[in-house]
Amino acid sequence: MIETITDLAALRARVAQWRREGLRVALVPTMGNLHEGHYSLVRLARQHADRVITSVFVNPTQFGPNEDFSRYPRTPEADALGLGAAGCDVMWLPTVETMYPYGVEATVRVQVPGVSTTLEGAHRPGHFDGVATVVSRLFNQVQPDVAVFGRKDYQQLAVIRYMVRDLAFAIELVGADIVREGNGLAMSSRNQYLSADERGTAAAIHRCLLAMRDAIAAGTPRAAVEAEAVKRLEADGFVPDYAVVRRPDLTEPADGEGGPRVALIAARLGRTRLIDNLEFGG
Ligand code: PAJ
Repeated sequence: MIETITDLAALRARVAQWRREGLRVALVPTMGNLHEGHYSLVRLARQHADRVITSVFVNPTQFGPNEDFSRYPRTPEADALGLGAAGCDVMWLPTVETMYPYGVEATVRVQVPGVSTTLEGAHRPGHFDGVATVVSRLFNQVQPDVAVFGRKDYQQLAVIRYMVRDLAFAIELVGADIVREGNGLAMSSRNQYLSADERGTAAAIHRCLLAMRDAIAAGTPRAAVEAEAVKRLEADGFVPDYAVVRRPDLTEPADGEGGPRVALIAARLGRTRLIDNLEFGG
């Protein structure tokens, strides 16, 4: 049976008890409205630890003023059921007051330089400050041995990696593979905003990523690959924010450069903003 904890003292008592028993603890941070992508993280966490805590918190500080904070789907009862089935021990469901005791405006903020400012960071100013701010306090609340993040949010994982090293969190980070629908669409809570038609169209993002990878492998210059991808997305009815090829640290590779790279896309379809990526090379 999964236990739902909403009180910080109770959470700390539970984790302290596990520590006395010598158990290894994993944390899976989420914003809820869980799907197979999230549950795959829980199952992976189980492989790295004896106990798994999944946090469910729609974090106000990582949403821009015109973003979907208020309409973001909140489904804690269904989440608890799914988490139990996936082998999670505790659902950590803090209130905004528990997470931000001084209030959202007066909170201590964590700002990761460099990697926070490109791509998603450029299109969603302040987004990664909010992510680093909430994840740093989730780490302090739970004090896990290991934390699992999806590679679906590739840049987010890079931001967290930087923060863990720089702030000396004694936490092992594990990145989980992207879980996709049968048509290639990366699973996301935001896919719920899509109409049936849009769901079909949205799969074109994954096909575009595959085409970008293949064009790079065929020796096409990076700028041409990126421009072609933007055109292709527009022709499919998207409004792309970016379609790029980067090194794993998100810096720009030179043409002809081998090694590990990642193609990343962010694009709007109707009123839904979708992100996806594909790692290759190396
Ligand atoms: P959320 O969007 O709920 O995602 C929680 C975790 O699930 C993230 O690590 C994300 O990368 C992973 N995830 C989502 N869809 C996935 C998929 N299709 N395949 C694999 N992993 C997937 O990311 C956040 O919440 C928040 O920013 C958070 C880190 C919780 C901070 O508020």
